[in-house]
Amino acid sequence: MKPTTLLTLLATATAGTSAAATRPLPLAPTRPRDAAAQHPHRLLHTLTPAAPSTANFRVLAAATESTKGGAVLTLPNSKLSTIHATLRVPEAKIPTAGPTANNPVGVYAASFWVGADAVVTGACAGGGALRAGVDIFYDGTLGGVQRPFVWYQGPGQGSETGFAGFEVAAGDLVRFKLEVGSEEGGEVVVVAENFGGNVTCVKDNGAVPVSSVRQVLPASVGGKTLCRGEAAWVVEDFPLEGLPDFPVALANFTSVAFGAGVTLEDGSERDLAGAEVLDVRLEAQGGRLTSCEVVDGKKVKCARVVGDS
Ligand SMILES: *[C@@H]1O[C@H](CO)[C@@H](O)[C@H](O)[C@H]1NC(C)=O
Ligand SMILES: *[C@@H]1O[C@H](CO)[C@@H](O)[C@H](O)[C@H]1NC(C)=O
Repeated sequence: MKPTTLLTLLATATAGTSAAATRPLPLAPTRPRDAAAQHPHRLLHTLTPAAPSTANFRVLAAATESTKGGAVLTLPNSKLSTIHATLRVPEAKIPTAGPTANNPVGVYAASFWVGADAVVTGACAGGGALRAGVDIFYDGTLGGVQRPFVWYQGPGQGSETGFAGFEVAAGDLVRFKLEVGSEEGGEVVVVAENFGGNVTCVKDNGAVPVSSVRQVLPASVGGKTLCRGEAAWVVEDFPLEGLPDFPVALANFTSVAFGAGVTLEDGSERDLAGAEVLDVRLEAQGGRLTSCEVVDGKKVKCARVVGDS
């Protein structure tokens, strides 16, 4: 039995209904207040996949592998004030091609996040990172598409925290804004807004969020402070919590487009010119798993692919 199969069977068993294992029920289209109970799976939001957690650790088997796709903008000569990302939450599906394809009892996931100083960790003396995003899941034994999990992770925090009272669904247009403009000792702010499924662009006249949440965090914890020199828009294949040794089978998210931009300390806006483009590459899952590009300096687009063809 595959470990992923075992985990989902265990998760189903602890849910207390043996009927759920044989007759998976679709998710109710409501948005319950108790979000925690709605997330049978969580991802392990490691900042550094190169740091082994156990002897079996093989998140990255080769130097050419990467768990991250997307774009990274490094600004050595100016400091970031805000970073924003707008994306439509993709639906998680079973891939139909590659080594992870078509496993009806499999767990598949993908994470989409925006971050400050969150990719090239250790490149700056502060060592802190801030990021926020949304994780999507598919579990064949739990009825298929699962409720997305929306989270933030501040400087010095070893793991993420789910936003309380803020839910999103596949198809919703969501905007994240990181406000990192304060100096050491101050605060950073994460704002998440959900515009729902009917809005095509947040600049539409009268586009008002259906719901929003604002989280204030200390800018420095345990000596970990932001340098404010790097912004990133990322698709990541993290391990599942409880299975830390390898990245989860990456869901087919078809494609994602982050509307992206930053403002600098002096108030000026900056596009993504000069950003480095990354792709998820994992040999065990078929090689290259994303095809990412920066479009017009304003969008980071990533398509889910398998291999280089
Ligand atoms: C993902 O889904 C899209 C749309 O259904 C499909 O065209 C594509 O081939 C799928 N990709 C993989 C890797 O399964
Ligand atoms: C979104 O569009 C659907 C279908 O047109 C409609 O039923 C629903 O009421 C709309 N929701 C909002 C919040 O406008």
